[in-house]
Amino acid sequence: MKTPVEGFSKLSKAEKIDWIANQCTTNPEATKKLLERYWNPDSQVQKLHDEFIENTLTNYYLPFAVAPNFLINGEFYAVPMAIEESSVVAAASKAAKFWLDKGGFKTTILGTEKVGQVHFMYKGNPKKLQEFFKKIHPNLLSSVASITQNMEKRGGGINAIELRDCTHKISGYYQLHCTFETLDAMGANFINSCLEQFAKTLKEQAKGHPDFSEEEKNIEVVMSILSNYVPNCLVRAEVECPVEQLVIKDISPEEFAQKFVQAVNIANVEPYRAVTHNKGIMNGIDAVVLATGNDFRAVEAGVHAYAAKNGSYFSLTHASIENDIFKFWIEIPLALGTVGGLTSLHPLVKLALEILQNPSAKKLMQIVAVAGLAQNFAAIKSLVTTGIQKGHMKMHLLNMLNQMGATESEKAQLVHYFKHETVTNASVKEALEKLQRT
Ligand code: MEV
Repeated sequence: MKTPVEGFSKLSKAEKIDWIANQCTTNPEATKKLLERYWNPDSQVQKLHDEFIENTLTNYYLPFAVAPNFLINGEFYAVPMAIEESSVVAAASKAAKFWLDKGGFKTTILGTEKVGQVHFMYKGNPKKLQEFFKKIHPNLLSSVASITQNMEKRGGGINAIELRDCTHKISGYYQLHCTFETLDAMGANFINSCLEQFAKTLKEQAKGHPDFSEEEKNIEVVMSILSNYVPNCLVRAEVECPVEQLVIKDISPEEFAQKFVQAVNIANVEPYRAVTHNKGIMNGIDAVVLATGNDFRAVEAGVHAYAAKNGSYFSLTHASIENDIFKFWIEIPLALGTVGGLTSLHPLVKLALEILQNPSAKKLMQIVAVAGLAQNFAAIKSLVTTGIQKGHMKMHLLNMLNQMGATESEKAQLVHYFKHETVTNASVKEALEKLQRT
């Protein structure tokens, strides 16, 4: 970019492309062609994507795949995943298959509570504020009646509004800490609309409250926003089997089970390992969250906060061996939606939900938690046996060959060749060059 631009968002799409190609790239014509190549040929579909965000130039593809053979609470699922990392879908599929004949995955919803807060400053007598809050509680609820009416008809709405004194953290700082049930919606708009109305009502009512001094009447609302920390919107997924059924190449079931539990225990006490351990879990979680049109940043933020809820960062999964039974489980907060947002807009999101038999938000929470557990199982299984690189590099082989410009026939021959050889950048380069010389 050579110079700042005024009113970029007001330019037409073609003008924006022109500007960016000329200002920021060395070959503007090639840039324009590349951007156009990724447009959807169906202009309606393209328009839909253009309007998701501001300043859209083109579409950014991620592979959309499925990991089949997941048995969850006795039902079969092919789980859609959108992700770029080569080994994730293969690992999920392998883990699904591994547990298929061992009873599959079991899941339980532990809670569905969402949270939002009005953060405000009040300079005055705390007791008077509490009395005031008690008095206006019905007004707060009635002020959002038009927003909550539909949600309430379906069985959701506001669970509770609590006044929290946070003056030990910041002088004068209080909250309305509110909890919600948003059913199949992720609920961000619903929650934020309720909170902004609560804030208005709070301020208005304070102004007219006869027991308040002039200073006390002047409540200052700092902000009103949902929280992505949802420790009570929680799901558990688990697998278990007799240790003897953990039949894995080149290692006894007992040794495998023990090493597996040790690996999980290490992640429970060692933050450097816990972060990578949980990153592997998020490989599975994010891929399904993204494919189903949910907000993976919200999920990531909430999950990692949950992993640190006891003051140090810990593993999201746990494993044990008791009476020769191997158990492996995850408890994870997941605020997801299967209505609203992208779910009825993005054609591939709609398809992903259809592939999952149009699940409720609770069902989706369970499927996503299973994807995380499966991913972690696959990662630890590799880590404590062959190491991660063998499988990872095999999956990455096609990316390397594409990068090296291999033809389809060369790729086919080398994929076959590397079934029994170690994949490294150097070994692939050498094998391709050798093939090209013959
Ligand atoms: C790579 O994306 C994820 C892993 O590093 C996870 C782990 O180490 O558990 C393989």
